[in-house]
Amino acid sequence: MAPAPNPASAKAPRHVAIIMDGNGRWAKQRGRPRTFGHAEGVEALRRTVEAAGELGVQYLTVFGFSTENWRRPAEEVSALFDLLRLYVARDLDKLVKEGVRVRVIGEREGLQADIGQIIENAEAKTRFNDKLNLIIAFNYGGQDEIARATRRVVADVAAGKIKADDINPDTFGAYLDTAEWPAPDLLIRTSCEYRLSNFMLWQAAYTELVFTDTLWPDFDKRALENAIAEYNKRERRFGGTEAVAT
Ligand code: IPE
Ligand code: IPE
Ligand code: MG
Repeated sequence: MAPAPNPASAKAPRHVAIIMDGNGRWAKQRGRPRTFGHAEGVEALRRTVEAAGELGVQYLTVFGFSTENWRRPAEEVSALFDLLRLYVARDLDKLVKEGVRVRVIGEREGLQADIGQIIENAEAKTRFNDKLNLIIAFNYGGQDEIARATRRVVADVAAGKIKADDINPDTFGAYLDTAEWPAPDLLIRTSCEYRLSNFMLWQAAYTELVFTDTLWPDFDKRALENAIAEYNKRERRFGGTEAVAT
């Protein structure tokens, strides 16, 4: 007999995106440096990747470093880069074994060479995995992504590969970093901030937004389940008059 469907996984949105925010405030509450909060944030990321897989999410996109985060003090920026190094060094084997495919979106130009290599290695080693797609937005900004895509469209128009008249949301979307994936169904932002901060500007056109007061280092499977339960109460209409099943 086929196993009974798991109700949680049956209702999990296909693509969940998360703005992991509040690490600094979490550390401040404890009288510790902001980087301590970022380190705990990595633990929350590990828990969340595991939980997303268990709940049957197919795509999990997380915002790790924005194109605007360069405005932070140099020591903090370098600590955030170190955490990407540490996360991949510690978890890549586990991700490979557990069927997680890792992809990184954002501007790669200008990143330190070893970061580029770490990203390429993680993508290559997990490329045949298909249980969960973990998409890490690193040095990512929605406006930067749209500008980079536009440069490529213009180059293709100049080369005669595409006609200007053929540019529409579908053809343009294929030039974005996220071309291969469906748009996020659910976007979660932690820590009581109610803005997109340049995340997924194009892709979030019809995404359901859930804001929570949990600070990112405290995020866990229960918090993800709560956000999914909130999502499941929403009626998605995509501009029409009837609910659309997704
Ligand atoms: C989010 O936490 C982590 C990143 C931006 C990488 P913050 O560092 O923004 O923490 P708060 O918002 O200052 O509390
Ligand atoms: C967004 O959080 C960026 C990431 C989570 C990586 P920020 O903390 O940088 O956003 P603002 O500055 O509060 O808008
Ligand atoms: Mg913040």
